[in-house]
Amino acid sequence: MTGIPQPAFYIFKCQQSAPPGMPKPSCVSQNNPESQQLMQHLSQKLMMKGIIATATPIQTSCLNRCQQGPVILVEPGHTMYVNLNKEKIDRIIDEHIIGGKVVDEYVIDESMWGEPIPPASMAR
Ligand code: FES
Repeated sequence: MTGIPQPAFYIFKCQQSAPPGMPKPSCVSQNNPESQQLMQHLSQKLMMKGIIATATPIQTSCLNRCQQGPVILVEPGHTMYVNLNKEKIDRIIDEHIIGGKVVDEYVIDESMWGEPIPPASMAR
């Protein structure tokens, strides 16, 4: 028996927008008009490429890397892309999502993205 195929990728796009005057930066900002268009751009690009069923875009709130925003997280792989704009998203789709090769130059610096913490080591 065959089931409905799973998506190959989930692309989590932080859509957190800090209120005006908030000192903390956010991924969607009034100071960066392009940042307000990136979720729509991501979805449209995936649709135009015909891959939105297998590379699913998901809006999220804060992914805790606000200083490097706008960010997306690609799963599987725990790949965090930072300081994004439309052009960078296009390359990520073409080279990583379709081509299978991570776009290293847009990946968060290792100093900001250490190894994951296993929940078993923290559970009480
Ligand atoms: S606001 Fe996007 S990571 Fe925090």
